[in-house]
Amino acid sequence: MSQPTQPILPGFKLGKIDINPPIALAPMAGITDLPFRRICRRFGIGLTVTEMIASRAVEQGRERTERMAELDKDESPVSIQIAGSDSKFVVDAAKWAVDHGADFVDINMGCPVKKVVKQVAGSAMLRDESLVARVIDAVVKAVDIPVTLKIRTGWDNQSKNVENIARIAEDNGIQMLTVHGRTRAQMFNGKASWEDIGLAKQAVSIPVIGNGDIIDGESALEMIRQSGCDGVMVGRAVQGNPWVLAEVHAAIMSLPKPEKPSAEEVWAVVHEHMLHLADFHGVKRASKLVRKHVPWYSKGRRGSAEFRSSFQKVFEWDKQIEAAKAYFLSDIHDEEAMSAVRDFAA
Ligand SMILES: Cc1cc2nc3c(=O)[nH]c(=O)nc-3n(C[C@H](O)[C@H](O)[C@H](O)COP(=O)(O)O)c2cc1C
Repeated sequence: MSQPTQPILPGFKLGKIDINPPIALAPMAGITDLPFRRICRRFGIGLTVTEMIASRAVEQGRERTERMAELDKDESPVSIQIAGSDSKFVVDAAKWAVDHGADFVDINMGCPVKKVVKQVAGSAMLRDESLVARVIDAVVKAVDIPVTLKIRTGWDNQSKNVENIARIAEDNGIQMLTVHGRTRAQMFNGKASWEDIGLAKQAVSIPVIGNGDIIDGESALEMIRQSGCDGVMVGRAVQGNPWVLAEVHAAIMSLPKPEKPSAEEVWAVVHEHMLHLADFHGVKRASKLVRKHVPWYSKGRRGSAEFRSSFQKVFEWDKQIEAAKAYFLSDIHDEEAMSAVRDFAA
């Protein structure tokens, strides 16, 4: 009989909840809505996180904000991510997240976007360590579920303070820290520093999740080796390729690398994703959203560039389904399949 395999990472507990396997889908604004998270969950992850929700938006009580916090009944473990620098608003948003069924509240101190940074929220907070401490302390005291934090390694190369922030986080009651190994100044350029994630890991005893530039099972293992992190989070590589999560899962569980999905398997997932989008957002909005998501699934496949441009010109929902089906179900992506897609274009 073959020996059971030893996972590379054992997982950990966050409050009463097991994070196992310790693989998280990264929060991505405009992408990780409920339909996307639903698709990703089946590929062996142990945590999902909503898109970032601004605490001021929670205060305004918009319908769109409510929808961002909508969770599947069986979606657990799941975090609702909130952002803001005014403790009053962030505390209210954290309580609202609890009311919406979150297992954890994640505070965003990594967002590099100008609009957010201008309000001294997201990654801008890293420049003010006492503000970091105040906001965390207020949220931790206000809710009785675990509070987690997601950060970058600092504002810029000259002011990296990932170790300080990690210690402040732990001292003020944060129970898990996710580190994207870039500074704010890097935005998404250059390489994520997995060594800097390791600095945070060495500074604290709470679980540290490493994030940035995982693209497959091997890169996940290499990040774990370089940083000693307790778990990994995958973002951009999942866009149009949720199967990468199964690869990361296999690598971390010491299982054989999964086979690449067949054309039928890819189409089944694309189709289901489209249907979930329509179900959740309504056909009108879904019709816009599929123009972003569906072409991602064609990345690396033959005829991708032409499919992308042709698909952008298909506007009717039924035709979008037919065009995607014609492309993804064709093994060879030959001229015949492409002309079928072109036929659906307006
Ligand atoms: C389009 C996009 C939207 C993002 N939105 C969020 C967000 O709402 N909250 C957050 O903490 N990080 C956000 N991020 C950052 C990711 O969670 C992650 O930290 C980053 O992409 C690095 O990981 P990766 O190399 O695996 O993509 C976003 C990234 C992208 C590309």
